[in-house]
Amino acid sequence: MKSNIVLIGFMGSGKSITGKLLAYRLGYNFVDTDTAIEQEYKSKIKDMFAKEGEAVFRQRETATIEKLAQKNHQVISTGGGVATKEKDMLALRKNGIIIALTAMPHTILKRTGNDKRPLLAKKNNDERLKTIIKLMAKRAPFYKKADLIIKTDDTTPLQNVEIIMKYLKGVK
Ligand code: S3P
Repeated sequence: MKSNIVLIGFMGSGKSITGKLLAYRLGYNFVDTDTAIEQEYKSKIKDMFAKEGEAVFRQRETATIEKLAQKNHQVISTGGGVATKEKDMLALRKNGIIIALTAMPHTILKRTGNDKRPLLAKKNNDERLKTIIKLMAKRAPFYKKADLIIKTDDTTPLQNVEIIMKYLKGVK
């Protein structure tokens, strides 16, 4: 079986919390690509977007993922934009099972605040919902390429873990 489990999906789909629980369950390391980027470049994602711009953040994301993808026995929670980048997904797929977490725009709106996500930093909830709907429409085809897709609107992170564990038993 491939050695890593890679979680992809929109912001607020539950990748980090599900990933942490899954890693604990499997006895794997948990890695969050955003956290790894922040550590490597000693700057918050929010500040990178503001100071260097999104394109620089995306390059850093690709460089970080290339390194992470080479390690084994990890649950990797990716930033919401990673699934759209072919190079990143090729690297992750080599040694990783790809699992997408999805949720409806209203669910995402409820789960995401205005604080640390530059792409959703909007004036009010209406603006944020519009942005979520637009961005999700662009990204949905990429999330669909996953090996397993879990709708998380009505599931808890622990239930997501159970679904993933069941799926992994059938993979081997
Ligand atoms: C982004 C999602 C964020 C983070 C950055 C860009 C995106 O990660 O990588 O703000 O493009 O969807 P989360 O999905 O963990 O919020």
